Amino acid sequence: MTENKIYLDYAATTPVDPRVTKAMLPYFSKKFGNTMSLHSFGQEAKQALEESREMVADLMGAKPNGIIFTSSATESNNLVLKGIAFANKAKGRHIIISSIEHPCIMESAKWLETQGFEITRLKVDKYGFVNPDDVKKAIKKETILVSIIHASNEIGTIQPIEEIGKICKDYNPPTTLPAEGGAPRVYFHTDATQSFGKIPIDVNKMNIDLLSASSHKMYGPKGVGCLFVREGTKIEPILHGGGHEGGLRSSTVNVPGIVGFAEACKICKMEMKKEAQRLTKLRDKLIKGILKKIEDVHLNGNPKKRLPNNANFWFSFVEGESLVIQLDLLGIAASTGSACATVKLEPSHVLLAIGLKPQEAHGSLRLTLGRWTKEKDIDYVLKVLPGIIKKLREISPLKK
Ligand SMILES: Cc1ncc(COP(=O)(O)O)c(C=O)c1O
Repeated sequence: MTENKIYLDYAATTPVDPRVTKAMLPYFSKKFGNTMSLHSFGQEAKQALEESREMVADLMGAKPNGIIFTSSATESNNLVLKGIAFANKAKGRHIIISSIEHPCIMESAKWLETQGFEITRLKVDKYGFVNPDDVKKAIKKETILVSIIHASNEIGTIQPIEEIGKICKDYNPPTTLPAEGGAPRVYFHTDATQSFGKIPIDVNKMNIDLLSASSHKMYGPKGVGCLFVREGTKIEPILHGGGHEGGLRSSTVNVPGIVGFAEACKICKMEMKKEAQRLTKLRDKLIKGILKKIEDVHLNGNPKKRLPNNANFWFSFVEGESLVIQLDLLGIAASTGSACATVKLEPSHVLLAIGLKPQEAHGSLRLTLGRWTKEKDIDYVLKVLPGIIKKLREISPLKK
């Protein structure tokens, strides 16, 4: 990592792996063609694009032609919600999400309400789990889409995606309208931005119709994402133009970025198992150490069913932003919650959804580990954090 600094905010973004940078470099200069051009420059770029599609598809057990490249997970998630809503509104106008989705799902859903769609936001339990039975109960004949985040960007909770996907797949609508083109009537989407590349995903085994991911969360470059779209899915584009990406996402294709994303996927596939074991060990050392050394601290999320790299706590009588600043002064980069929520300074909707009071949610700290996290980094955090908490509590107006 950067000299003498400890980066524990890998859920916000990751550095680009040097192997990824190396793979991308030729596509900025020598191999700069437009994938739509007929000449050799274009064909070279097109070949790189299609090979990249295969590599990304391979990491989720999909067919290459099911992968659409986008600019981000935000774009992929917008495309799913709006694209499915507008393509299927004749069948129904009901969409189900959870109450702990990323803001790009929450806000897209809110906007769809202004367009006449009905949104059900499912509650979660104290660990942040969606109950599959609640999905079953919420589905009705007007339901066109269920979208549930795979792993929480804040508390790391991993949802029972396979079970939820099966419920959507098995749903037989009590209606005369047949499912078209062999596709299921209730599409199932998962936002896998935090899980893709970290834990195994198989879109077929897990009954997933649509899946969003983002390159910069997995050691690839920023500005690239993907959407898996199962064959036969009815979806409208939101970017209209030259018909790139099977007509679903017009715009000149970002070849260097996509090549980098694909290389990042290849590396994750090779290293996932070992890396997940390594990070789980470090994460558990961190969690155990913090719970042991500090009083009045609580782990947010489930102790076991969480991402290998995620630890999230709330500390009584501590203000999260002050804590992050104090840690930064000692060379540790952490966060209070999701990077997107920091601009709002409102308590996290995820922490409120798992039952924290606003004041408690304000005392949260997210530490997310990654490829360059070492055991000595965890030891350093465990050494300095108790002192910082003590100091903040001493000056806290919250403590009587
Ligand atoms: C779960 C989740 N979904 C979506 C996004 C948005 O990703 P991007 O930065 O690629 O737009 C993020 C980023 O923080 C995320 O964690």
